[in-house]
Amino acid sequence: METRTKRAWMFVYGFLELVCVGSSPLSSVVFTRSEVCQEAVLPCEWGSHSEVSSETPYIQWQTLRNMVFERMGPAKFQAEAYQNRADVPEAVLAKGNCSLHLSDIRFSDAGIYECYLVVGKTGSKQRIFIQSVQLSVLDHKSTRVVEMGKDLTLDLYKSQAETVVFQSSNGDEWRELWRRGDRSRVEERDGKLVIGNVGASDEGIYRVIDGEGLTISTVKVSVQEPPRPTRTNLVEKRVSFESSVGMNSPSLPLGFLLIMFLYLL
Ligand SMILES: *[C@@H]1O[C@H](CO)[C@@H](O)[C@H](O)[C@H]1NC(C)=O
Repeated sequence: METRTKRAWMFVYGFLELVCVGSSPLSSVVFTRSEVCQEAVLPCEWGSHSEVSSETPYIQWQTLRNMVFERMGPAKFQAEAYQNRADVPEAVLAKGNCSLHLSDIRFSDAGIYECYLVVGKTGSKQRIFIQSVQLSVLDHKSTRVVEMGKDLTLDLYKSQAETVVFQSSNGDEWRELWRRGDRSRVEERDGKLVIGNVGASDEGIYRVIDGEGLTISTVKVSVQEPPRPTRTNLVEKRVSFESSVGMNSPSLPLGFLLIMFLYLL
């Protein structure tokens, strides 16, 4: 009797849960984050919606305001703001995985995304809510130590970078080092900025900034003096001395023990 009521309650709870998930898109938000200019995968699975498993799935991803991506078999639609950046691979989708791939993430991509499955025939189409994903977009932050005389390379994140500015550690002025399309005073190699033969005056903060004036990346650089050669020699000498002692030492206690043994006899 008791187990029966329990089971009934479990059924009711299960039913309520189903209704909630089905009716309110925000009831099952998944949070994901990505650094700007990188890739993001917004997770989603429709496999449990067995009512459509026999058909070619028709999937829609949208933000609260705009359509982002649609796919039905090989046919796909990408909104203009997501041109060449959004996809749900067809083969993966057929297996029940409707995760949205976004590449070259922008700050403006941040927000809530919803995934829907479209079912039914033309004229009586229905949308089934599958998943909400909140995407946060972060800037890059790092610190670097560079030896004096060496090269400092900085990622340009070229798809979105507009300028690179520098603030010396003993000043508060920002100086422009690079600008998109301009002839740069600083060498550019494989999408990276290369500052050669680093000196004390190159110590400070480097910022990559996008067209909206937002910071894509902040790199705090400190410049270190190269290690003094005399000290290294000293350490090397000590190491070689210790190792030679270490090699001879096993015979020392052995000989001592032998003498002690003979003495005791
Ligand atoms: C769904 O596919 C994406 C790649 O498209 C993958 O990262 C993710 O792990 C897959 N999810 C599951 C549950 O297999």
